Amino acid sequence: MRCVKCLVAAAALVPLAGLLIAWLGLIHVGATGGHWAVTEWFLHWTMRSSVRTAALGIEKPAGFENATVLQVAAVHFEGGCAECHGSPGRRRSAEVLAMLPPPPDLKEAVGRWTDEELFVIVRDGLRYTGMPAWPGAGRDGEVWAMVAFLKQLPEMSAARYQTLALDGDAGSISAFSPCLSCHRSGADGGDQAIPAIAGQSEFYLAETLRAYLSGKRESGFMEVAASNLSDPEVAAAARHFANLPAQVSATATPSSVRDERALSLVQTGDPVKKIAACDACHDGRNARYPLLGGQPLSFLREQLLLFRSDRRAGSATEQLMSRAVRNLTDGDIDRLAAHYASGPMAGTLRR
Ligand code: HEC
Ligand code: HEC
Ligand code: HEC
Repeated sequence: MRCVKCLVAAAALVPLAGLLIAWLGLIHVGATGGHWAVTEWFLHWTMRSSVRTAALGIEKPAGFENATVLQVAAVHFEGGCAECHGSPGRRRSAEVLAMLPPPPDLKEAVGRWTDEELFVIVRDGLRYTGMPAWPGAGRDGEVWAMVAFLKQLPEMSAARYQTLALDGDAGSISAFSPCLSCHRSGADGGDQAIPAIAGQSEFYLAETLRAYLSGKRESGFMEVAASNLSDPEVAAAARHFANLPAQVSATATPSSVRDERALSLVQTGDPVKKIAACDACHDGRNARYPLLGGQPLSFLREQLLLFRSDRRAGSATEQLMSRAVRNLTDGDIDRLAAHYASGPMAGTLRR
Protein backbone atom coordinates (compact mmCIF):
# COMPACT_ATOMS: atom_id res chain seq x y z
CA MET A 1 0.00 0.00 0.00
CA ARG A 2 2.74 2.39 1.07
CA CYS A 3 4.63 1.67 -2.11
CA VAL A 4 1.70 2.67 -4.30
CA LYS A 5 1.61 6.01 -2.48
CA CYS A 6 5.35 6.46 -3.12
CA LEU A 7 4.84 5.83 -6.82
CA VAL A 8 2.01 8.36 -7.03
CA ALA A 9 4.10 10.95 -5.20
CA ALA A 10 7.10 10.32 -7.47
CA ALA A 11 4.90 10.58 -10.57
CA ALA A 12 3.55 13.91 -9.34
CA LEU A 13 7.06 15.20 -8.66
CA VAL A 14 8.39 14.63 -12.18
CA PRO A 15 6.32 17.39 -13.87
CA LEU A 16 6.93 19.66 -10.90
CA ALA A 17 10.68 19.17 -11.26
CA GLY A 18 10.31 19.94 -14.98
CA LEU A 19 8.45 23.16 -14.18
CA LEU A 20 11.09 24.12 -11.63
CA ILE A 21 13.91 23.64 -14.15
CA ALA A 22 12.01 25.73 -16.73
CA TRP A 23 11.23 28.43 -14.12
CA LEU A 24 14.87 28.66 -13.07
CA GLY A 25 15.67 29.39 -16.74
CA LEU A 26 17.97 26.38 -17.11
CA ILE A 27 16.54 25.35 -20.50
CA HIS A 28 18.57 27.08 -23.21
CA VAL A 29 16.29 28.58 -25.89
CA GLY A 30 18.93 30.49 -27.84
CA ALA A 31 19.53 29.47 -31.46
CA THR A 32 23.34 29.57 -31.19
CA GLY A 33 25.36 26.38 -31.31
CA GLY A 34 22.60 24.19 -32.77
CA HIS A 35 21.01 21.13 -31.14
CA TRP A 36 22.84 18.17 -29.68
CA ALA A 37 23.19 15.48 -32.34
CA VAL A 38 20.71 13.24 -30.51
CA THR A 39 18.11 16.04 -30.20
CA GLU A 40 18.57 16.87 -33.88
CA TRP A 41 18.09 13.23 -34.84
CA PHE A 42 15.00 12.90 -32.62
CA LEU A 43 13.34 16.09 -33.95
CA HIS A 44 13.84 15.13 -37.59
CA TRP A 45 12.75 11.55 -36.95
CA THR A 46 9.54 12.88 -35.34
CA MET A 47 9.01 15.31 -38.24
CA ARG A 48 9.52 12.65 -40.91
CA SER A 49 7.17 10.24 -39.13
CA SER A 50 4.47 12.89 -38.69
CA VAL A 51 4.65 13.97 -42.34
CA ARG A 52 4.63 10.34 -43.53
CA THR A 53 1.49 9.55 -41.49
CA ALA A 54 -0.33 12.74 -42.54
CA ALA A 55 0.48 11.97 -46.19
CA LEU A 56 -1.30 8.58 -46.00
CA GLY A 57 -4.69 10.28 -46.33
CA ILE A 58 -3.72 12.44 -49.30
CA GLU A 59 -4.78 11.58 -52.82
CA LYS A 60 -2.93 13.36 -55.57
CA PRO A 61 -4.93 14.74 -58.48
CA ALA A 62 -4.17 12.98 -61.74
CA GLY A 63 -1.76 14.89 -63.95
CA PHE A 64 -1.01 17.61 -61.43
CA GLU A 65 2.61 17.73 -62.69
CA ASN A 66 1.34 19.12 -65.97
CA ALA A 67 -0.24 22.05 -64.17
CA THR A 68 -0.06 25.11 -66.35
CA VAL A 69 0.36 27.33 -63.31
CA LEU A 70 4.11 26.73 -63.09
CA GLN A 71 4.83 30.39 -63.70
CA VAL A 72 2.57 31.53 -60.84
CA ALA A 73 4.20 29.01 -58.52
CA ALA A 74 7.66 30.22 -59.61
CA VAL A 75 6.81 33.89 -58.96
CA HIS A 76 5.29 32.92 -55.61
CA PHE A 77 8.39 30.85 -54.77
CA GLU A 78 10.65 33.84 -55.45
CA GLY A 79 8.46 36.14 -53.32
CA GLY A 80 7.36 33.74 -50.57
CA CYS A 81 9.92 30.94 -50.21
CA ALA A 82 13.30 31.96 -51.69
CA GLU A 83 14.12 34.31 -48.85
CA CYS A 84 14.47 31.25 -46.60
CA HIS A 85 15.28 28.44 -49.05
CA GLY A 86 17.29 30.29 -51.71
CA SER A 87 16.61 29.91 -55.44
CA PRO A 88 18.53 29.78 -58.71
CA GLY A 89 18.07 33.57 -58.67
CA ARG A 90 18.87 34.38 -55.04
CA ARG A 91 21.37 33.60 -52.26
CA ARG A 92 20.21 33.50 -48.65
CA SER A 93 21.07 36.08 -46.03
CA ALA A 94 23.34 35.27 -43.09
CA GLU A 95 20.35 35.78 -40.80
CA VAL A 96 18.37 33.03 -42.46
CA LEU A 97 21.32 30.65 -42.31
CA ALA A 98 21.48 31.32 -38.55
CA MET A 99 17.91 30.02 -38.05
CA LEU A 100 17.49 26.83 -36.02
CA PRO A 101 16.86 24.59 -37.88
CA PRO A 102 18.32 26.32 -40.97
CA PRO A 103 15.90 26.06 -43.94
CA PRO A 104 17.41 23.52 -46.36
CA ASP A 105 18.32 24.20 -49.99
CA LEU A 106 15.27 22.68 -51.65
CA LYS A 107 17.16 21.70 -54.80
CA GLU A 108 18.65 18.97 -52.61
CA ALA A 109 15.82 18.38 -50.13
CA VAL A 110 12.92 17.86 -52.56
CA GLY A 111 14.11 14.38 -53.64
CA ARG A 112 13.76 13.04 -50.08
CA TRP A 113 9.98 13.31 -50.10
CA THR A 114 7.08 11.76 -52.01
CA ASP A 115 4.62 14.06 -53.81
CA GLU A 116 2.04 13.56 -51.06
CA GLU A 117 4.59 14.36 -48.35
CA LEU A 118 5.63 17.55 -50.13
CA PHE A 119 1.95 18.49 -50.33
CA VAL A 120 1.53 18.01 -46.56
CA ILE A 121 4.66 20.06 -45.76
CA VAL A 122 3.69 22.95 -48.05
CA ARG A 123 0.04 22.99 -46.97
CA ASP A 124 0.53 22.58 -43.21
CA GLY A 125 4.02 24.00 -42.61
CA LEU A 126 6.34 22.61 -39.91
CA ARG A 127 5.70 23.63 -36.33
CA TYR A 128 8.60 25.09 -34.29
CA THR A 129 10.83 25.51 -37.36
CA GLY A 130 9.68 28.77 -38.98
CA MET A 131 8.30 26.89 -42.02
CA PRO A 132 4.87 28.56 -42.59
CA ALA A 133 1.57 26.90 -43.57
CA TRP A 134 -0.07 27.81 -46.92
CA PRO A 135 -1.93 31.11 -46.40
CA GLY A 136 -4.94 30.24 -48.61
CA ALA A 137 -6.91 27.72 -46.52
CA GLY A 138 -8.82 25.16 -48.59
CA ARG A 139 -6.97 25.97 -51.84
CA ASP A 140 -5.41 22.54 -52.38
CA GLY A 141 -5.07 23.21 -56.12
CA GLU A 142 -2.62 26.01 -55.37
CA VAL A 143 -0.59 23.75 -53.11
CA TRP A 144 -0.40 21.06 -55.82
CA ALA A 145 0.80 23.73 -58.28
CA MET A 146 3.60 24.51 -55.83
CA VAL A 147 4.47 20.81 -55.50
CA ALA A 148 4.62 20.53 -59.31
CA PHE A 149 7.06 23.43 -59.34
CA LEU A 150 9.19 21.98 -56.47
CA LYS A 151 9.56 18.71 -58.37
CA GLN A 152 11.07 20.57 -61.32
CA LEU A 153 13.35 22.68 -59.15
CA PRO A 154 16.31 20.24 -58.81
CA GLU A 155 16.70 20.10 -62.62
CA MET A 156 15.78 23.70 -63.35
CA SER A 157 18.43 25.87 -65.03
CA ALA A 158 18.99 29.41 -63.80
CA ALA A 159 17.87 30.71 -67.20
CA ARG A 160 14.55 28.85 -67.07
CA TYR A 161 13.96 30.05 -63.51
CA GLN A 162 14.71 33.60 -64.61
CA THR A 163 12.09 33.40 -67.37
CA LEU A 164 9.44 31.89 -65.12
CA ALA A 165 9.93 33.82 -61.90
CA LEU A 166 11.75 37.04 -62.59
CA ASP A 167 11.26 38.41 -66.08
CA GLY A 168 7.66 39.48 -65.60
CA ASP A 169 6.23 41.78 -68.19
CA ALA A 170 9.45 43.10 -69.67
CA GLY A 171 7.77 45.96 -71.52
CA SER A 172 6.09 47.45 -68.46
CA ILE A 173 7.42 50.20 -66.26
CA SER A 174 4.44 51.00 -64.05
CA ALA A 175 4.50 50.79 -60.25
CA PHE A 176 2.38 47.69 -60.62
CA SER A 177 4.68 45.71 -62.90
CA PRO A 178 5.24 43.11 -60.13
CA CYS A 179 1.56 42.24 -60.57
CA LEU A 180 2.26 41.56 -64.24
CA SER A 181 4.80 38.84 -63.40
CA CYS A 182 1.70 36.69 -62.94
CA HIS A 183 -1.07 38.66 -64.63
CA ARG A 184 0.85 38.88 -67.89
CA SER A 185 -0.79 38.39 -71.18
CA GLY A 186 -0.09 34.78 -71.87
CA ALA A 187 3.70 34.73 -72.22
CA ASP A 188 5.53 31.44 -71.64
CA GLY A 189 3.27 28.54 -72.27
CA GLY A 190 -0.07 30.27 -71.87
CA ASP A 191 -1.19 30.11 -68.30
CA GLN A 192 -4.66 28.82 -67.64
CA ALA A 193 -5.33 29.82 -64.05
CA ILE A 194 -4.64 33.54 -63.84
CA PRO A 195 -7.52 35.94 -64.33
CA ALA A 196 -7.17 39.00 -66.54
CA ILE A 197 -7.62 42.03 -64.29
CA ALA A 198 -7.34 44.85 -66.84
CA GLY A 199 -10.70 46.51 -67.48
CA GLN A 200 -12.53 45.13 -64.42
CA SER A 201 -14.40 47.80 -62.47
CA GLU A 202 -12.45 49.90 -59.99
CA PHE A 203 -14.98 49.00 -57.28
CA TYR A 204 -14.59 45.26 -57.85
CA LEU A 205 -10.79 45.40 -58.01
CA ALA A 206 -10.46 47.45 -54.81
CA GLU A 207 -12.96 45.33 -52.89
CA THR A 208 -11.26 42.16 -54.08
CA LEU A 209 -7.78 43.29 -53.08
CA ARG A 210 -9.10 44.21 -49.63
CA ALA A 211 -10.71 40.78 -49.34
CA TYR A 212 -7.34 39.12 -50.07
CA LEU A 213 -5.56 41.44 -47.62
CA SER A 214 -7.95 40.60 -44.80
CA GLY A 215 -7.75 36.88 -45.59
CA LYS A 216 -11.50 36.86 -46.33
CA ARG A 217 -10.94 35.66 -49.90
CA GLU A 218 -8.58 32.70 -49.64
CA SER A 219 -5.73 32.36 -52.12
CA GLY A 220 -2.15 31.74 -50.98
CA PHE A 221 -0.83 33.20 -54.23
CA MET A 222 -2.81 36.43 -54.04
CA GLU A 223 -2.70 36.90 -50.26
CA VAL A 224 1.09 36.93 -50.44
CA ALA A 225 1.20 39.03 -53.63
CA ALA A 226 -1.09 41.69 -52.13
CA SER A 227 0.39 41.66 -48.65
CA ASN A 228 2.73 44.61 -49.19
CA LEU A 229 0.08 46.98 -50.57
CA SER A 230 -0.82 49.94 -48.37
CA ASP A 231 -4.40 51.32 -48.46
CA PRO A 232 -3.52 54.09 -50.95
CA GLU A 233 -1.71 51.52 -53.12
CA VAL A 234 -4.82 49.31 -53.18
CA ALA A 235 -6.83 52.27 -54.43
CA ALA A 236 -4.14 53.17 -56.97
CA ALA A 237 -3.86 49.59 -58.24
CA ALA A 238 -7.64 49.36 -58.67
CA ARG A 239 -7.69 52.65 -60.60
CA HIS A 240 -4.68 51.63 -62.72
CA PHE A 241 -6.03 48.27 -63.85
CA ALA A 242 -9.62 49.51 -64.26
CA ASN A 243 -8.41 52.13 -66.72
CA LEU A 244 -6.51 49.68 -68.91
CA PRO A 245 -8.44 48.29 -71.87
CA ALA A 246 -10.15 44.96 -71.05
CA GLN A 247 -8.23 42.11 -72.61
CA VAL A 248 -9.34 38.67 -73.53
CA SER A 249 -6.98 36.12 -71.99
CA ALA A 250 -4.43 34.95 -74.55
CA THR A 251 -5.60 31.40 -73.96
CA ALA A 252 -9.27 32.10 -74.68
CA THR A 253 -10.42 29.19 -76.77
CA PRO A 254 -13.17 30.25 -79.15
CA SER A 255 -15.67 27.44 -79.22
CA SER A 256 -17.29 26.48 -82.48
CA VAL A 257 -20.02 24.47 -80.76
CA ARG A 258 -23.05 26.33 -79.49
CA ASP A 259 -23.88 24.90 -76.06
CA GLU A 260 -27.64 25.29 -75.64
CA ARG A 261 -27.69 24.44 -71.93
CA ALA A 262 -24.97 27.00 -71.15
CA LEU A 263 -26.68 29.62 -73.27
CA SER A 264 -30.04 29.16 -71.58
CA LEU A 265 -28.44 29.32 -68.09
CA VAL A 266 -26.68 32.52 -69.08
CA GLN A 267 -29.71 34.20 -70.65
CA THR A 268 -32.71 32.89 -68.71
CA GLY A 269 -31.37 30.75 -65.87
CA ASP A 270 -33.26 27.69 -64.66
CA PRO A 271 -36.37 28.73 -62.68
CA VAL A 272 -37.18 25.14 -61.69
CA LYS A 273 -33.78 24.71 -60.04
CA LYS A 274 -33.77 28.32 -58.79
CA ILE A 275 -30.70 29.27 -60.83
CA ALA A 276 -30.69 32.95 -61.76
CA ALA A 277 -29.66 34.07 -65.25
CA CYS A 278 -25.97 34.95 -65.18
CA ASP A 279 -26.71 37.76 -67.60
CA ALA A 280 -28.96 39.43 -65.02
CA CYS A 281 -25.79 40.57 -63.28
CA HIS A 282 -22.67 39.92 -65.34
CA ASP A 283 -20.80 41.29 -68.30
CA GLY A 284 -22.01 44.83 -68.32
CA ARG A 285 -25.39 44.49 -66.58
CA ASN A 286 -24.00 45.83 -63.32
CA ALA A 287 -20.72 47.70 -63.67
CA ARG A 288 -19.66 46.63 -60.18
CA TYR A 289 -19.82 42.91 -60.89
CA PRO A 290 -16.92 41.16 -62.60
CA LEU A 291 -16.68 40.65 -66.34
CA LEU A 292 -16.42 36.96 -67.16
CA GLY A 293 -16.12 36.72 -70.94
CA GLY A 294 -12.64 35.62 -72.00
CA GLN A 295 -11.37 34.65 -68.53
CA PRO A 296 -9.33 31.41 -68.45
CA LEU A 297 -11.28 28.16 -68.28
CA SER A 298 -9.72 26.64 -65.17
CA PHE A 299 -10.00 29.92 -63.25
CA LEU A 300 -13.75 30.17 -63.98
CA ARG A 301 -14.34 26.53 -63.13
CA GLU A 302 -12.43 26.75 -59.84
CA GLN A 303 -14.25 29.93 -58.75
CA LEU A 304 -17.67 28.40 -59.49
CA LEU A 305 -16.78 25.32 -57.44
CA LEU A 306 -15.61 27.56 -54.59
CA PHE A 307 -18.81 29.64 -54.69
CA ARG A 308 -20.99 26.54 -54.75
CA SER A 309 -19.36 25.18 -51.59
CA ASP A 310 -19.44 28.62 -49.89
CA ARG A 311 -15.67 28.88 -49.89
CA ARG A 312 -15.27 32.00 -52.02
CA ALA A 313 -15.68 35.39 -50.38
CA GLY A 314 -15.04 38.81 -51.84
CA SER A 315 -16.94 42.08 -51.93
CA ALA A 316 -20.01 42.92 -49.85
CA THR A 317 -22.23 41.42 -52.58
CA GLU A 318 -20.51 38.03 -52.67
CA GLN A 319 -23.53 36.19 -51.23
CA LEU A 320 -25.55 37.08 -54.37
CA MET A 321 -23.26 34.82 -56.30
CA SER A 322 -23.27 31.92 -53.83
CA ARG A 323 -27.07 31.95 -53.97
CA ALA A 324 -27.12 32.10 -57.78
CA VAL A 325 -24.94 29.03 -58.26
CA ARG A 326 -25.95 26.80 -55.35
CA ASN A 327 -27.90 24.37 -57.55
CA LEU A 328 -25.52 24.10 -60.49
CA THR A 329 -24.38 20.55 -61.26
CA ASP A 330 -20.73 19.74 -62.03
CA GLY A 331 -21.76 19.42 -65.67
CA ASP A 332 -23.38 22.89 -65.63
CA ILE A 333 -20.20 24.33 -64.14
CA ASP A 334 -18.02 22.80 -66.86
CA ARG A 335 -20.36 24.12 -69.56
CA LEU A 336 -20.60 27.63 -68.12
CA ALA A 337 -16.84 27.84 -67.66
CA ALA A 338 -16.30 26.74 -71.25
CA HIS A 339 -18.96 29.21 -72.44
CA TYR A 340 -17.37 32.25 -70.80
CA ALA A 341 -13.79 31.12 -71.54
CA SER A 342 -14.56 31.08 -75.24
CA GLY A 343 -14.46 34.86 -75.23
CA PRO A 344 -16.77 37.83 -74.89
CA MET A 345 -20.12 37.22 -76.59
CA ALA A 346 -20.87 39.31 -79.63
CA GLY A 347 -22.78 42.34 -78.47
CA THR A 348 -21.75 41.90 -74.83
CA LEU A 349 -21.21 45.21 -73.16
CA ARG A 350 -17.60 45.40 -72.02
CA ARG A 351 -18.10 48.22 -69.58
C1 HEC B 1 10.60 31.83 -42.74
C2 HEC B 1 11.37 30.86 -43.45
C3 HEC B 1 10.69 29.89 -44.41
C4 HEC B 1 9.83 30.20 -45.43
C5 HEC B 1 9.30 31.56 -45.84
C6 HEC B 1 9.53 28.96 -46.08
N1 HEC B 1 10.18 27.92 -45.47
FE1 HEC B 1 10.16 25.95 -45.99
N2 HEC B 1 11.25 25.47 -44.39
C7 HEC B 1 11.75 26.36 -43.47
C8 HEC B 1 12.37 25.63 -42.38
C9 HEC B 1 13.05 26.24 -41.17
C10 HEC B 1 12.23 24.25 -42.68
C11 HEC B 1 12.54 23.05 -41.80
C12 HEC B 1 13.89 22.51 -41.89
C13 HEC B 1 14.07 21.34 -40.98
O1 HEC B 1 13.13 20.85 -40.32
O2 HEC B 1 15.18 20.90 -40.94
C14 HEC B 1 11.54 24.19 -43.96
C15 HEC B 1 11.26 23.00 -44.63
C16 HEC B 1 10.68 22.94 -45.88
C17 HEC B 1 10.53 21.72 -46.65
C18 HEC B 1 11.01 20.33 -46.20
C19 HEC B 1 12.46 20.17 -46.61
C20 HEC B 1 13.25 19.20 -45.79
O3 HEC B 1 13.70 18.21 -46.34
O4 HEC B 1 13.39 19.46 -44.59
C21 HEC B 1 9.91 22.07 -47.83
C22 HEC B 1 9.54 21.14 -48.98
C23 HEC B 1 9.68 23.50 -47.79
N3 HEC B 1 10.15 24.00 -46.59
C24 HEC B 1 9.07 24.24 -48.80
C25 HEC B 1 8.76 25.60 -48.71
C26 HEC B 1 7.98 26.33 -49.69
C27 HEC B 1 7.42 25.75 -50.98
C28 HEC B 1 7.87 27.61 -49.22
C29 HEC B 1 7.10 28.78 -49.83
C30 HEC B 1 5.70 28.53 -50.07
C31 HEC B 1 8.58 27.68 -47.96
N4 HEC B 1 9.11 26.44 -47.68
C32 HEC B 1 8.71 28.83 -47.19
C33 HEC B 1 11.67 27.73 -43.53
C34 HEC B 1 10.89 28.45 -44.42
C1 HEC C 1 2.23 34.99 -57.78
C2 HEC C 1 1.37 35.39 -58.88
C3 HEC C 1 0.52 36.64 -58.73
C4 HEC C 1 0.94 37.93 -58.50
C5 HEC C 1 2.38 38.42 -58.30
C6 HEC C 1 -0.25 38.75 -58.49
N1 HEC C 1 -1.36 37.98 -58.72
FE1 HEC C 1 -3.29 38.61 -58.66
N2 HEC C 1 -3.92 36.67 -58.94
C7 HEC C 1 -3.11 35.57 -59.05
C8 HEC C 1 -3.92 34.37 -59.05
C9 HEC C 1 -3.42 32.93 -59.17
C10 HEC C 1 -5.27 34.80 -58.93
C11 HEC C 1 -6.54 33.94 -58.77
C12 HEC C 1 -6.71 33.81 -57.27
C13 HEC C 1 -7.98 33.17 -56.77
O1 HEC C 1 -8.23 32.03 -57.11
O2 HEC C 1 -8.68 33.82 -55.96
C14 HEC C 1 -5.23 36.26 -58.85
C15 HEC C 1 -6.36 37.07 -58.71
C16 HEC C 1 -6.34 38.46 -58.65
C17 HEC C 1 -7.53 39.30 -58.59
C18 HEC C 1 -8.97 38.81 -58.59
C19 HEC C 1 -9.47 38.77 -60.00
C20 HEC C 1 -10.87 38.28 -60.15
O3 HEC C 1 -11.38 38.38 -61.26
O4 HEC C 1 -11.46 37.81 -59.19
C21 HEC C 1 -7.10 40.60 -58.55
C22 HEC C 1 -7.96 41.84 -58.48
C23 HEC C 1 -5.64 40.57 -58.59
N3 HEC C 1 -5.22 39.26 -58.66
C24 HEC C 1 -4.84 41.71 -58.59
C25 HEC C 1 -3.44 41.67 -58.46
C26 HEC C 1 -2.62 42.84 -58.25
C27 HEC C 1 -3.12 44.28 -58.19
C28 HEC C 1 -1.33 42.41 -58.14
C29 HEC C 1 -0.08 43.22 -57.84
C30 HEC C 1 -0.09 43.90 -56.57
C31 HEC C 1 -1.36 40.94 -58.30
N4 HEC C 1 -2.66 40.54 -58.49
C32 HEC C 1 -0.24 40.12 -58.26
C33 HEC C 1 -1.73 35.57 -59.15
C34 HEC C 1 -0.92 36.67 -58.87
C1 HEC D 1 -27.48 38.36 -58.55
C2 HEC D 1 -26.30 38.69 -59.28
C3 HEC D 1 -25.48 37.53 -59.86
C4 HEC D 1 -25.92 36.46 -60.60
C5 HEC D 1 -27.33 36.12 -61.03
C6 HEC D 1 -24.72 35.71 -60.97
N1 HEC D 1 -23.61 36.30 -60.43
FE1 HEC D 1 -21.70 35.68 -60.66
N2 HEC D 1 -21.05 37.15 -59.43
C7 HEC D 1 -21.86 38.12 -58.84
C8 HEC D 1 -21.06 38.96 -57.98
C9 HEC D 1 -21.55 40.13 -57.15
C10 HEC D 1 -19.72 38.45 -58.05
C11 HEC D 1 -18.49 38.99 -57.33
C12 HEC D 1 -18.41 38.38 -55.97
C13 HEC D 1 -17.25 38.96 -55.18
O1 HEC D 1 -17.40 40.05 -54.69
O2 HEC D 1 -16.22 38.31 -55.07
C14 HEC D 1 -19.76 37.33 -58.99
C15 HEC D 1 -18.64 36.59 -59.36
C16 HEC D 1 -18.66 35.56 -60.28
C17 HEC D 1 -17.49 34.84 -60.72
C18 HEC D 1 -16.05 35.09 -60.29
C19 HEC D 1 -15.43 36.05 -61.27
C20 HEC D 1 -14.08 36.57 -60.89
O3 HEC D 1 -13.50 37.30 -61.70
O4 HEC D 1 -13.60 36.28 -59.80
C21 HEC D 1 -17.90 33.90 -61.64
C22 HEC D 1 -17.03 32.91 -62.40
C23 HEC D 1 -19.35 34.05 -61.78
N3 HEC D 1 -19.76 35.07 -60.95
C24 HEC D 1 -20.14 33.29 -62.63
C25 HEC D 1 -21.53 33.36 -62.65
C26 HEC D 1 -22.35 32.45 -63.42
C27 HEC D 1 -21.82 31.36 -64.34
C28 HEC D 1 -23.65 32.81 -63.17
C29 HEC D 1 -24.91 32.15 -63.72
C30 HEC D 1 -25.14 30.78 -63.33
C31 HEC D 1 -23.62 33.93 -62.23
N4 HEC D 1 -22.32 34.23 -61.95
C32 HEC D 1 -24.75 34.56 -61.75
C33 HEC D 1 -23.22 38.28 -59.05
C34 HEC D 1 -24.03 37.41 -59.74
